[in-house]
Amino acid sequence: MIKVGIITASDKGSQGDRKDLSAPVIEELVKSIGGEVAAYAVVPDEQALLEEKLKEYADEKSLDLVFTTGGTGFSPRDVTPEATLAVVDRLAPGIAEAMRWNSLKITPKAMLSRAVAGIRGATLIINLPGSPKAVRECLEMIIPALPHGIEILKGEAGECGRQ
Ligand code: MTE
Repeated sequence: MIKVGIITASDKGSQGDRKDLSAPVIEELVKSIGGEVAAYAVVPDEQALLEEKLKEYADEKSLDLVFTTGGTGFSPRDVTPEATLAVVDRLAPGIAEAMRWNSLKITPKAMLSRAVAGIRGATLIINLPGSPKAVRECLEMIIPALPHGIEILKGEAGECGRQ
């Protein structure tokens, strides 16, 4: 069972002014790989608060996989990538590359997401854009590779070079 956290970065969502339609899409797709959402939060677009929540999910809750949604664009309030970069030990650039590569086949606006992915301890953190449509398009591309990545991260995988 993959333990998953979802952090929705949204000023309006955190004030109860906008329904979160993206987290349910993440939950649906996570279930397809045997994942379970163990923690969920809606956080305003404040870098310090996002960093705090990411650290809590990685260090205290020891989640395997944390998705953020929202706050990856060009607005001055979009700081999710900066919060993520501040807390990860290692980057996993292939994940964001794959999301943008796939998404660019659908819309040129995909290049406007500054999403990053990286590893803090044994937790993989992945930024997704904010809209439910974008979340689905990005996740569908990367989700098949995630269980193997998490196995390797936890030291549970066999030798993948022989497959
Ligand atoms: N990626 C996919 N696959 N599909 C989309 O519709 N929208 C883009 C981009 N990535 C989009 C996408 C748009 S319009 C923006 S502004 C950026 O994601 C940033 O979104 P965010 O600020 O909600 O994170």
